[in-house]
Amino acid sequence: MPNTRIAGVGHHVPENIVTNDDLTKVMDTTDEWIRERTGIEERRYVTRGEDSTTTLAAKASRKAIADAGIQAEDLDFIIFATLSPDYYFPGCGVLLQRELGITKTEIGALDIRNQCTGFVYGLSVADQFIKSGMYKNILLVGAEIHSYGLDFSTAGRSVSVIFGDGAGAVVLQASDDDTGVINTKLHSDGTHAEKLAVLHPGMHANVLINKIDGFDEFLINFDYEDQPYGGLFINNEIVDTKIYAPYMEGQAVFKKAVQKFPEVIMEGLAAAGYGPGDLDMFIPHQANLRISQFVQRLMKLPDDKVYNNIMKYGNTTAASIPIAFSEAIEKGKIKRGDLVSLAAFGSGFTWASALLRY
Ligand code: ACO
Repeated sequence: MPNTRIAGVGHHVPENIVTNDDLTKVMDTTDEWIRERTGIEERRYVTRGEDSTTTLAAKASRKAIADAGIQAEDLDFIIFATLSPDYYFPGCGVLLQRELGITKTEIGALDIRNQCTGFVYGLSVADQFIKSGMYKNILLVGAEIHSYGLDFSTAGRSVSVIFGDGAGAVVLQASDDDTGVINTKLHSDGTHAEKLAVLHPGMHANVLINKIDGFDEFLINFDYEDQPYGGLFINNEIVDTKIYAPYMEGQAVFKKAVQKFPEVIMEGLAAAGYGPGDLDMFIPHQANLRISQFVQRLMKLPDDKVYNNIMKYGNTTAASIPIAFSEAIEKGKIKRGDLVSLAAFGSGFTWASALLRY
């Protein structure tokens, strides 16, 4: 059975830096509040009109493809994780194929809608495809443009200050050496689905809105004769109630995250006969620096074995792990042969880990 080797990595973040002080110009917030609660100092936003989620992904992908020493045409499969796709459908996978100039049709493209855990879920899918012998070269990318979809008024401040734009990619290759993905562990608990969510556009949004605590102010009565497209129809109520912006019960997310992160990391380590002390590097999804530090303390990991860059980029959801992974490799903090754990918790709720030897 072949191993799933990480043959190439790459990341791209927009040049446009938005500091916490910049945000104070459009909403009632402070640099101190944002740093204390999240650790974030600045994030990147695309220049409006210049990039789409797919073009950001393509910039990261080209670097990963070059790093792997292959051509885009050598890819057999594309996996694209994002919560901010260019279109409601089709997904970004086929758009990335086109953007990379891949004209052959002996290739598949798959979109993953797992938000913060999208990259790790995608890695698990790619690993199964490679180990089964179905594909030899898979491009896995996580990319987000959050800045187009956030509520930048004071009402949306507890969510909007957290997120940033960016993309990260890896090329996964069938290999017979002894590096690569050791295991992946995936979990979900749908009972918390609306605690971290964007309800619109969605077919069921208007039904759900009536059932969620705290959403009373968003009650909408659709007139289906005038609005034949129901939940997808853009009308004044949807614009006024901002149900297209992310909603988060921050404290509920925090409590679950600090419990599930260590569990799923330990699950992967134990299955391979390792303990936390064996890790050369742990890369948590960059949700919030306080969550990462909490997990680091619980697992008794020294500072040089945990990679965080949320201070510079904010939370880039599906892109956060591949950006951090690629950056850590670029800075020489991860070397070939190192034992690395990647882990994420997020919307769904879903949580997941991947243990690999780089
Ligand atoms: N600036 C200033 N004040 C703010 C801001 C802001 N940006 N946002 C909220 N506040 C205010 C609130 O209005 C509230 O004021 P009040 O006490 O006068 O009502 C006060 O700060 C506390 O608000 P909370 O929402 O209770 O803030 P909390 O202490 O929970 O911190 C946070 C919010 C940082 C989101 C926290 O809940 C958290 O860390 N949650 C974890 C979830 C997370 O980090 N998610 C990341 C994305 S999801 C993921 O990737 C898994």
